[in-house]
Amino acid sequence: MATSIAVASGKGGVGKTSMSVNLSLIFAQMEKRTTLLDADFGMANAHILLGVKPEYFISDTLKGNASISQTLCTGPKGLKFASGGSGLIDMLNLDKKTRYQTIRLFDEIADDTDILVVDVPAGASDSSLAFVAAADAVLVVLVGEPTSFLDAYSLIKAAHLEAGLCNFSVVVNMTQSEAQAKAHYEKFNSIVQKFLEVNLNYVGHLPLSNRLRQSIVTRKPISVDAKDSREYSCFQKIGKNILNSPKNETGGIRFFDQQVVHNKRAG
Ligand SMILES: Nc1ncnc2c1ncn2[C@@H]1O[C@H](COP(=O)(O)OP(=O)(O)O)[C@@H](O)[C@H]1O
Ligand SMILES: [Mg+2]
Repeated sequence: MATSIAVASGKGGVGKTSMSVNLSLIFAQMEKRTTLLDADFGMANAHILLGVKPEYFISDTLKGNASISQTLCTGPKGLKFASGGSGLIDMLNLDKKTRYQTIRLFDEIADDTDILVVDVPAGASDSSLAFVAAADAVLVVLVGEPTSFLDAYSLIKAAHLEAGLCNFSVVVNMTQSEAQAKAHYEKFNSIVQKFLEVNLNYVGHLPLSNRLRQSIVTRKPISVDAKDSREYSCFQKIGKNILNSPKNETGGIRFFDQQVVHNKRAG
């Protein structure tokens, strides 16, 4: 059965897209059939990091102008990729029905997918929360700044109180060392534990890295291009840990909902 991982942060600019792209490529290289959905509708940019140029966007599929398989393009290592589209003003604020339709689009690829990674828009909007709540695992990207702590806290609080999620994995980005990452995580966890009954799970760190920044400029993701780098081993660790992390089993609208997929097949 396909599993889904939402990459979220609350705050923008903390490395969510870099994490989503590189982790997806790590999974693809583990021989997992992986799809990346750039759900930052209207402001999607993961295709730039991947170095692909999608012909169709999710908005085209929703309008019936392209099938989901036409919208999925192929990136490095056989990674499948679907983009929410950029510069599409009408996609910036998805209504409830469109969010539901978007999540259900992926039922069609349930049998051909092992892992779906979702790059969730920044903020704690209804759209961000819907994609977080629809996934089996949530990876929260944190940086060691009070603004990131606050926004990640708000996201976790909303996902817990509004959608009943209890398990969150945390990765600390742009750190000087693993020790510093763990210190940031411990501090964040102690704040969260004071107010919320949720389970946080540290899955790793990513150093502040010129090499990573450069990989975005050259459109050659580190997880494909620089296997000898420390960044690559960090992504590998994060990837393995997130696959082993506790999953959420809420009753709401979910990616690859077994019952819905079953009914669609039967009907
Ligand atoms: N570990 C890192 N080291 C250095 N720069 C980073 C790192 N992670 C992300 N960045 C840079 O930070 C910026 C924002 O990253 P991005 O992945 O687009 O974040 P988000 O999707 O959260 O907005 C980009 O310029 C990216 O190159
Ligand atoms: Mg982004």
